Amino acid sequence: MPTPELLTAELTLTGRITTASNATFLGTIGDVVVVYKPIAGESPLWDFPQGTLAHREVAAYLVSQALGWDVVPHTWLRDGPFGEGMVQLWQEQDPAHDAVDLVAADTVPETGWKQVLEGRDESGRMVALIHEDSPALRRMALFDVMVNNADRKGDHILAMPDGQRHGVDHGLTFHRDHKLRTVLWGWQGDDLTSDEENGIDRVSEGLNGGLGRDLADLLSSEEIASLAARCARLRSAGQFPAPSGEMPAVPWPLF
Ligand SMILES: Nc1ncnc2c1ncn2[C@@H]1O[C@H](COP(=O)(O)OP(=O)(O)O)[C@@H](O)[C@H]1O
Ligand SMILES: [Mg+2]
Repeated sequence: MPTPELLTAELTLTGRITTASNATFLGTIGDVVVVYKPIAGESPLWDFPQGTLAHREVAAYLVSQALGWDVVPHTWLRDGPFGEGMVQLWQEQDPAHDAVDLVAADTVPETGWKQVLEGRDESGRMVALIHEDSPALRRMALFDVMVNNADRKGDHILAMPDGQRHGVDHGLTFHRDHKLRTVLWGWQGDDLTSDEENGIDRVSEGLNGGLGRDLADLLSSEEIASLAARCARLRSAGQFPAPSGEMPAVPWPLF
């Protein structure tokens, strides 16, 4: 739980993140910098029920907590200048590093990176979409499978100076239907490590206890059952899934 101050002290808006499709603000609570997305500012979507994105963001944080991998920055629901919304701790990224990149196809590094796609850019040049091959990013990829993330773009991955990789923008998660759209396909078919299996088990066990109770305030019972089923499927498959072919496997735009 956030400290009482973060729950109740005044949230002051300091800016708006203009690239964002929803109403996404920068603000402060005391001297803590936060992102604030009021429910009232959520754009209607054809496939997700209106007014539920902030709840999904908090639900994603709770799953990240159950995993114990610190994928999602601290996220909670609270009141703000435009009413109830999600608030998330701001994380200052390393400006010199991108965990996902688009590079000329003949410059893909031989080690340390995974290639996801190859294609031509507007000028006809062959380019490759690559992401780093790091344990932190691999855990995020597995987290995305569990929460059924429909929008893991490059810009939703924050590269921290200490090597941690945080995921943000988890409004399009936990749909009952398969919606996984991600740029992190580099580990498809790889066997899960025991650390990854243990993480999945913590979520499955949590769903029968405290995590399940907390999620019941945020998601429908069908969505929670689908989460449990995805965890069970991952454990029985024992490996990272591949794109299913029924739908686009990557988000658009990619960043
Ligand atoms: N907690 C955070 N810390 C640092 N940067 C963030 C954080 N949340 C979002 N951002 C930055 O702001 C951008 C827009 O936020 P995002 O959550 O994607 O909003 P929207 O739902 O409107 O698309 C992100 O791509 C990311 O670069
Ligand atoms: Mg976004």
